[in-house]
Amino acid sequence: MPTRVTVRVRVQGTCGSRNPLRVIPRSTLCVTAAESVVDGKLEGRKEVRKRGMDGQVRGFEEIPHTGRNGWVNLVKFWREDRFRQLHKHMDRTFNALGPIYREHLGTQSNVNIFLPSDVSELFLSEGLHPERMTLEPWATHREIRQHSKGVFLKNGEEWRADRLLLNKEVMMSSAVKRFLPLLDEVARDFCQMLRMRVEREGRVVEEKHSLTINPSPDLFRFSLEASCHVIYGERIGLFSSSPSLESQKFIWAVERMLATTPPLLYLPHRLLLLIGAPLWTQHVTAWDHIFSHADARIQRGYQRLGQGSEAGAARGHYTGVLGQLLEKGQLSLDLIKANITELMAGGVDTTAVPLQFALFELGRNPEVQEQVRQQVRASWAQAGGDPQKALQGAPLLKGTVREILRCNSCSCM
Ligand code: HEM
Repeated sequence: MPTRVTVRVRVQGTCGSRNPLRVIPRSTLCVTAAESVVDGKLEGRKEVRKRGMDGQVRGFEEIPHTGRNGWVNLVKFWREDRFRQLHKHMDRTFNALGPIYREHLGTQSNVNIFLPSDVSELFLSEGLHPERMTLEPWATHREIRQHSKGVFLKNGEEWRADRLLLNKEVMMSSAVKRFLPLLDEVARDFCQMLRMRVEREGRVVEEKHSLTINPSPDLFRFSLEASCHVIYGERIGLFSSSPSLESQKFIWAVERMLATTPPLLYLPHRLLLLIGAPLWTQHVTAWDHIFSHADARIQRGYQRLGQGSEAGAARGHYTGVLGQLLEKGQLSLDLIKANITELMAGGVDTTAVPLQFALFELGRNPEVQEQVRQQVRASWAQAGGDPQKALQGAPLLKGTVREILRCNSCSCM
């Protein structure tokens, strides 16, 4: 049995990785080696980059680490509140230990990688069935509630088979083309809602309205509205002045589920389940809420499909990712539910947070902002209302998104 460790990837020059968790067998681990521990001394970045770049392959045990005792390390993590500042801790440790280091935390063993060349080598070596670390607390929730698992929690051939079917409705450009108008509609309504708020609540400075806000709650609402429209083919009215309590609760549940995940990764969560620890109870309650939110919409989608599928299909009406999956019937209902729930849970904060990064960067680079805006306007004017064409004519916007995703250290799907 090969020993399993998590490889956490943080690409050079980025702001920190959210959850790129990869698992590979020990024997394939050390592609480029780092040197031994440098007595805790922090050196210049250039030195760090050079360190360990002699191209030799070395063994797992030779990878420098932050201490052998996982529980001692975990206590340090807690005392210094490192979970909330993980990127800073990783930055410091890369500086101290070089571009590949190991970290033992509670029940987990991670290998962290810094250099893009090493990351690329790792990804290229994965083959058709990449192995992912199973997020155990999530998997346990599915088991105790007898839900199926979606692609996020699967590996091997089973993962690949489901993933190929999902790609057709989520990833392929033909699918994107179909749901782009839905996103466009939500984005337009969002801008309109903000414009009205600025006019209503803003103060006038040099004949222009100006309003200072924290965009985070609005961006979360935007992401959820857009996700629901694409996934369920349904608008849920989050831009109204009184959005439903149900939707607010869904956002809260996603936030709670994400916030309780990191500590549970390093603790014996089955023990916490047995003793009914509040951390575990909160995690499971949040997931239950996410599932029941999805469940209600899947039921509605199913009924809609039953009532109007012929008419809808005859009109060529796009029924959202859920409608497409139900119509094709290649995935079982349980698997559709599992994957739709993962898409809903996975799409909200991952969209809202990079959008906030983007606004921040464009806000502090007004010249770039103006160039991007001009190009988008010119491209729209020529696209004849086709959002896909408009996007193709706005490479600066694409460049902005790519740069923001680089800053988020994104490697999704
Ligand atoms: C910038 C935004 C996003 C970031 C940074 C992000 C991050 C990630 C990462 C790091 C993974 C693991 C990839 C791997 O194991 O190779 C992942 C997988 C996944 N993400 Fe995202 N994600 C983002 C947006 C989304 C959105 C919008 C959705 C849903 C609409 C989503 C749904 C999923 C799913 C279903 C998986 C599992 C894929 C599989 O294993 O086949 N993500 N994401």
